[in-house]
Amino acid sequence: MQKLHKLIDQIEGLTTLDDVCQKTAGWVMRATRCDTVKNALSGTWLGHALHPILTDLPIGAWAMASLVDVTAGKDGARAARGLVGAGLLAALPAAASGASDWSDTYGGSQRLGFVHAAGNGAATVVQAASWVARRRGRHCTGAALSGLGLGLTVGAAYLGGHLTLVQGIGVSHTAFQEPVTDWTDVAAATALSDDIPLRVTADGVPVVLVRHDGDLYALSATCTHAGGPLDEGEIVGDGCIRCPWHGSEFRLADGEATRGPASVDEPAWEVKVDDGRVYVRSATA
Ligand code: FES
Repeated sequence: MQKLHKLIDQIEGLTTLDDVCQKTAGWVMRATRCDTVKNALSGTWLGHALHPILTDLPIGAWAMASLVDVTAGKDGARAARGLVGAGLLAALPAAASGASDWSDTYGGSQRLGFVHAAGNGAATVVQAASWVARRRGRHCTGAALSGLGLGLTVGAAYLGGHLTLVQGIGVSHTAFQEPVTDWTDVAAATALSDDIPLRVTADGVPVVLVRHDGDLYALSATCTHAGGPLDEGEIVGDGCIRCPWHGSEFRLADGEATRGPASVDEPAWEVKVDDGRVYVRSATA
């Protein structure tokens, strides 16, 4: 394990990748500039990141193709070829959603994500070659190529897992936030100005207060996407706050994510003013 982590550290330190990473990320950002596209690929409409769901499909199809190769041999040639083809089709949306997520990363995570994508790209090319070989009746060559492609996919998946589970890319940054059940005094009402977010703290949890159109709102101040400070964002559209880091938008009234890359809603807080002081508590309290 130590060796694998050392290898990952080395990949993260490959600054020679920065030029190609930044150019590629720029292309992806331009391609996903439209809100509808970004929301679709991020999983904002689903309330869950889309990429990990979509990756199950090609990985599953290709794993099953190799299993059929091993257990049924030439008798399963037709089924295995169908599975390889299905995996190729499923790889396209998986790659698109992954590219969209990756374009919002930086530094070592972006380099590691690039190598993860390159590994998956190589696996897809090898699986495509396998499909062609099978189509031409060269079953053994196709099976060998599928095995190679599956190995590349597993290696790339390891890097993807590291990005998510070790580095927290794609994990909601409010996941471990405990609800604050008691009304908590956080600010003087006079500290609030219309549409100017104010950062306060309730029992150690950062909260952003916003007075908008005469109503007072409170959301957690840590953006669920990657931890950006919502109190440094701006009020936009129909009562939403936009994160300054990657432009995710959340509805002030209930924290719903209305624009990606965030896919998880922002925790909402109840808010009241009593005797000139602002009090908040978690909306789940
Ligand atoms: S941290 Fe990425 S949109 Fe907020």
